[in-house]
Amino acid sequence: MRNNVPQKVLLIISISLIYLSHPLFAEFDKPIKASKGMVVTANKLATETGLKILKDGGNAIDAAVAVGFTLAVTYPYAGNLGGGGFMVLHLSNGKNTSIDFREKAPLLSNKNMYLDDEGNYIPELSQTGVTSVGVPGSVAGLIYALKKYGTMSLAKVIQPAINLAIKGWVLDDNTASSFEHFLPEFNKYNSSKKIFSKKGQPYKKGELFVQKDLGWTLEQIKQKGRDGFYKGKVAKLLVKQISKNNGYITLEDLARYNPIEREPIFGTYRGYKIVSMPPPSSGGIALVELLNILENFKFKTSDWNSSSYINKMVEAMKYVYADRTYKLGDEDFYPVPKKTLISKKYAKTIFDKLTPFATPSTTIQKDILPKQKESTETTHFSVYDKYGNAVSITTTINSAFGSKIVVDGAGFLLNNEMDDFSAKPGEPNQFGLLGSKANSIEPEKRMLSSMTPTIVLKDEKPYIVVGSPGGSTIITTVLQVIMNVIDFNMNIKEAVSVPRFHHQWFPDKIYVEKFCTNKDTEQNLTKMGYTLANRNSTFRILGSAQAILIDNKNKTIYGASDPRRNGLAKGF
Ligand code: DON
Repeated sequence: MRNNVPQKVLLIISISLIYLSHPLFAEFDKPIKASKGMVVTANKLATETGLKILKDGGNAIDAAVAVGFTLAVTYPYAGNLGGGGFMVLHLSNGKNTSIDFREKAPLLSNKNMYLDDEGNYIPELSQTGVTSVGVPGSVAGLIYALKKYGTMSLAKVIQPAINLAIKGWVLDDNTASSFEHFLPEFNKYNSSKKIFSKKGQPYKKGELFVQKDLGWTLEQIKQKGRDGFYKGKVAKLLVKQISKNNGYITLEDLARYNPIEREPIFGTYRGYKIVSMPPPSSGGIALVELLNILENFKFKTSDWNSSSYINKMVEAMKYVYADRTYKLGDEDFYPVPKKTLISKKYAKTIFDKLTPFATPSTTIQKDILPKQKESTETTHFSVYDKYGNAVSITTTINSAFGSKIVVDGAGFLLNNEMDDFSAKPGEPNQFGLLGSKANSIEPEKRMLSSMTPTIVLKDEKPYIVVGSPGGSTIITTVLQVIMNVIDFNMNIKEAVSVPRFHHQWFPDKIYVEKFCTNKDTEQNLTKMGYTLANRNSTFRILGSAQAILIDNKNKTIYGASDPRRNGLAKGF
């Protein structure tokens, strides 16, 4: 299976092409270096806010919370108050922990809520409108983390977000175009149209974007902490917005919301320790299961993205995504066989089944044919401080701009996260992901996620802090970034930049980014029995990683923001 063009050359060409095709390529040629601290986010203003907190003596948790609130103002595409997420932390005292602030199903929900009288799934109900909204967790999660592990006051870390909302910030090209792109959706809701357009006319790049209502909501949170969001005026406005169109969330749901601190998922890979997110995210288990299977192979530089490498990776991915479908859900509601799934012994049984050709997905588990849906958004940020604390957070409102519904008077967008539940076994969600009883809807249950905020430790100290958006492709994105560093010795900028591929069991296709493979590799894969997805399919771009690598030996911190989007790594 030798390819004519050596893989190393392909790697160099692909990195160059990605850089050259990116408007900011000059910034992206090397990782950003620093000695004291680093913030990497999908948004320049958020990175700068976090960095300022670090420079003012705050720790990584203070900075991460400031970034979280800022993204709700400057990256409404995915940053949020009305969504949820996951946080993995390594503290300077050696403790590893994780905080689950995932949305949950409202008390009034039930497993048939998205089915018609004949039991047919109605995707519009789980994906759009107020019926798709899960009880938000972000505000509670950020405040919990700050109180327990931060050093600064909420007033201090939330103030930059308040200032940006009230004084406004200048719209960049991407944000202005995304507002315009989604205008028809925003126009469906007066409250959203009011915020994201000028009386129906699109905002233009360079204009000042002021969000007074959002500033007011942030001010409520600043003054009253979590009660400023989950009780009182903001909560009432949220419930009013939801009940206007027959949604499910009540004041009781909001008052009862709590983030949960959980033991992370731990694994090892070639001597490195993996610390990642437990259920209700599938991310940590799936990542460790994949790494455990793949550890049985020895890779050399020339293997990178060759047909035989892709074959090994993709076969492993199929088994792991099948496990995700049948075995993973919110552990507080369903007995997830966590220990087995992350054991080396179990991984070896899968490794022994891998074939040097394509094993049809239908023979791995039942035959279910999913459809594919619209574009989506989530965001990841990574922070490392001079004390040795590392924070890895992925947060989302699910689709781009979530449900597209702004809470009138409160200025923030609501998620459409309920779609991450399995509405009916065999019916794919918007990522084409399948689910089973493990992830069926129950009141107060948290929907299964793919978010994979991860910290890799070397000698028990943070080595890589990484995560990504990308729905179902998050897991394979994080996997490839980690392997690019550990197996292929790439620097962190290369590791996040180089092209990626993805398989999720169903659809039985390999999604391959531009420049990932050459003609020979593609022909070899076809001969092995694989179908390559059309490059213009849903997963044209696979994830957008925001990563930090800490070289303790040389006392250097490297930051890298994925050139696929317009994020920024900045350190000091
Ligand atoms: O939790 C999840 O897995 C999804 N709601 C994440 C959505 C996402 O990553 C969309 N981004 N591109």
